[in-house]
Amino acid sequence: MFGGGVASPPATREGGASKRPEAREQKTGKSFGEEGGRLTYGSYLRLPELLAQQVPQVIPPAHDELLFITVHQAYELWFKQLLYELTTARDAMRPGQTWRARQLLQRAHVIERLLVSQIDVLETMTPQDFLEFRAALAPASGFQSVQFRELEFLSGAKDPGFVSRFRALTDAERDRLARRLAEPTLWDAYLGLLRSRGLPADGDDEVLTSLVAVARDRARHDDLWQLAEDLLTHDEICGLWRARHVQMVERQIGTKSGTGGSTGAPYLHKRVPLRYYPLLWELRDWL
Ligand code: HEM
Repeated sequence: MFGGGVASPPATREGGASKRPEAREQKTGKSFGEEGGRLTYGSYLRLPELLAQQVPQVIPPAHDELLFITVHQAYELWFKQLLYELTTARDAMRPGQTWRARQLLQRAHVIERLLVSQIDVLETMTPQDFLEFRAALAPASGFQSVQFRELEFLSGAKDPGFVSRFRALTDAERDRLARRLAEPTLWDAYLGLLRSRGLPADGDDEVLTSLVAVARDRARHDDLWQLAEDLLTHDEICGLWRARHVQMVERQIGTKSGTGGSTGAPYLHKRVPLRYYPLLWELRDWL
């Protein structure tokens, strides 16, 4: 039985031949990876279209421009996913599905941590290499990211001033921002949830009193407590991104003004302390 020293592969044993990939290929005329035929990896993911979108602009070519474009596009893809998850999380709160809202918020946290660490990739670029193409970017700036503003509005920081300041918005982008400004935020949905449990939530004092009640009665309100903690984590990681972004900006351009026309790092430093849920932070003082 062990005479040959090496066991025969199952495919060479009697009855096993049809399991070998090559044998299957001979039988079906299809090679490994081509099952199905109609839908392929590339066509399902629309890769020809996707991979045609990274188009460096600068002449003469600058090596790092491709990295710069790829990183920003990856951000926008994740922003799209975040808007999808956070909108559904908000909508799950209305019928009281705290478990669903929590699951999606926790997914958002993982994506957001990825977005913070993605800054490391861009920091492999030296300031000198960035300068090879930076001037050609003006007046384009991350400041004009519509999805980034949508995320801020949906999270709770609605500032219509950003919409009036963007003169180059398309009609579709302006509509999207207007819709986000008009619709409830994650925080509005959470307050609705408090009210639905008989906890008053009109005005900061009432909300704070209710948050303290939730925190002190975990046996009764644990899902509300955990959901508030998930909102706080969302807030915290977004703050980490702002702090990390301004560090990178200082590393790349020092205190030069931004391509979007702001003062650059001084403007961004002012944005770092922004908090979506100040009452959840203040709650700590009262526990
Ligand atoms: C070399 C890399 C980068 C530099 C030097 C840089 C620089 C700046 C500067 C100076 C501003 C202030 C607005 C202005 O005047 O332009 C800004 C804003 C902004 N940037 Fe960047 N940035 C970089 C990469 C990124 C990346 C990868 C993203 C990801 C999407 C991003 C997103 C944003 C956003 C959303 C704002 C607006 C922030 C706010 O208003 O709070 N930036 N950036």
